Amino acid sequence: MNEVYQQIGEEGLNALVCAFYKRVKEDDLLSPMYPSDDWESAQGRLADFLIYRCGGSQKYIEERGHPRLRMRHMPFHIGTAERDRWLKLMRESMEETKVEPPASKLLAEFFAQTADFMRNASE
Ligand code: HEM
Repeated sequence: MNEVYQQIGEEGLNALVCAFYKRVKEDDLLSPMYPSDDWESAQGRLADFLIYRCGGSQKYIEERGHPRLRMRHMPFHIGTAERDRWLKLMRESMEETKVEPPASKLLAEFFAQTADFMRNASE
């Protein structure tokens, strides 16, 4: 994931998350799960997490501690439909912000694995 950071940097990751949240806000399945009055903070948490995970600034850890992502997703109903929608919006966002290989491939693999790990509900 360090390669991702070298290729697209903090700027690229912020742009990606911005494009992603633009889609989440409009999405019938995902948007109701998010805090509608604080999109900016939610967007900041995902961006900071990805920056940290790719070897950049530790801001996420300083502010949120250990990610414990699966536990932090337990309050939300995440089945295959939610997983697949999240991944679709992220794919579109990578296209929009022109993330090229190898970063696009590394990120797509990481997102697919992590999103599947977040599932906590059968259909
Ligand atoms: C599988 C479908 C997913 C759904 C439906 C989902 C939904 C959500 C929701 C509703 C939140 C709360 C918003 C907030 O206030 O921060 C959240 C937080 C978060 N999600 Fe996801 N998520 C999914 C997958 C992922 C994946 C694949 C990643 C990482 C690559 C991720 C990373 C995060 C992070 C870092 C936070 C903030 C955690 C915190 O510090 O509180 N999510 N997610």
